[in-house]
Amino acid sequence: MKKTKAELLKNQDEKYIVGTYKRSDLCLSEGSQAGVKDLEGNEYIDFSSGIGVNSFGFSDEGWVKAITDQACKLQHTSNLYYTEPAVKVARLLVEKSNMSKVFFANSGAEANECAIKTVRKYSNEKYGQHRNEIITLKNSFHGRTMTTITATGQEEYHQFFHPFSEGFFYVEPNNIAELERTISDNTCAIMIELIQGEGGVNSLDHVYVDTIVSICKEKDILLIVDEIQTGIGRTGTFFAFEQFNIQPDLVTVAKGLGGGLPVGAVIFNEKTENVLTFGDHGTTFGGNLIVCAGAAYILESLDEKMLAEINEKSEYIRKELLEMDEVEFVSGLGLMIGIKHKTKSAKEIAETCLQEGLIVLTAKEKVRLLPPLNISWEQLEQGLNILKKVLKG
Ligand SMILES: Cc1ncc(COP(=O)(O)O)c(C=O)c1O
Repeated sequence: MKKTKAELLKNQDEKYIVGTYKRSDLCLSEGSQAGVKDLEGNEYIDFSSGIGVNSFGFSDEGWVKAITDQACKLQHTSNLYYTEPAVKVARLLVEKSNMSKVFFANSGAEANECAIKTVRKYSNEKYGQHRNEIITLKNSFHGRTMTTITATGQEEYHQFFHPFSEGFFYVEPNNIAELERTISDNTCAIMIELIQGEGGVNSLDHVYVDTIVSICKEKDILLIVDEIQTGIGRTGTFFAFEQFNIQPDLVTVAKGLGGGLPVGAVIFNEKTENVLTFGDHGTTFGGNLIVCAGAAYILESLDEKMLAEINEKSEYIRKELLEMDEVEFVSGLGLMIGIKHKTKSAKEIAETCLQEGLIVLTAKEKVRLLPPLNISWEQLEQGLNILKKVLKG
């Protein structure tokens, strides 16, 4: 029998691309906002945003114009020269975070690498080389480079690739006593996600975060907040740290910042802004003009009005879900939502949703929703109806 386009593509993918991803059978071909079609023309509503990347959904008109206009003018210059889009994005990130300076990377893992280098240099210079230990949380996810998988507090990532980077210690989220026991004179930084994304959409307790902040202040330990999944409006404020009333020393962002193009960034406060100097760090593509033109569009569009709408939509989704007997609880903030079903597994729900025309994610035992930040009420309603039917069914 003649193979479908999707089957042919799948065969070619398996032939030519290393099998590090467990893909579903879906072959997406074109989309607009939260709507997307596969190669066979089947339509889906997307509640995943390419894992929190497509902030404004598929091929948003304004974003496409921003990147294509830039591509027609100048696509890349190297970091040997000054460029307008990078400066604009850096200024916007600084203004929105109330911080000081930015370094551009190309992914979340790279942004975290840069943050890790920075905290080690800060402490090495100030206190000596022994002060290099970093505490991260169990169940965290910080990336796939050698050092960021080491920072990731999950055993399953710490296999096969020995030797791993040294100097990482893991503590149970929300356990203040364990944190206090683990901190030593060698601790230079604590690195946290305020809501663990890959780890299951688990929010940290405010008391715990307050304790971390006060210990960090008292001992001159630097606080890195990984906002790669939570940042850029995802949780209903520009950064999740705003809702915890804290001001970190370093914030890492990526994913939604580019709206669909690869980017990562570290935002530094006054204490850390001048730690890295000439030659300490760099990357060919960091601050790329096209990527930054798209990021500038995202940052400028994400105003108070859009944030208010994100919160309105979030409340609506939560209310609808919490009214269902089948739902045990709902976690997360803004449009980063985790759903725990009383009886069904997240995987089973995600698979059935897909058959019904809705793309959702999973994170550990939860169904995870990361819909486009500007999803229309109509598409939201459409997707939610499918989700509710599947959760009930
Ligand atoms: C919180 C967090 N940090 C870091 C990363 C790694 O980002 P990237 O895949 O862009 O390297 C991710 C990716 O899922 C993430 O969710």
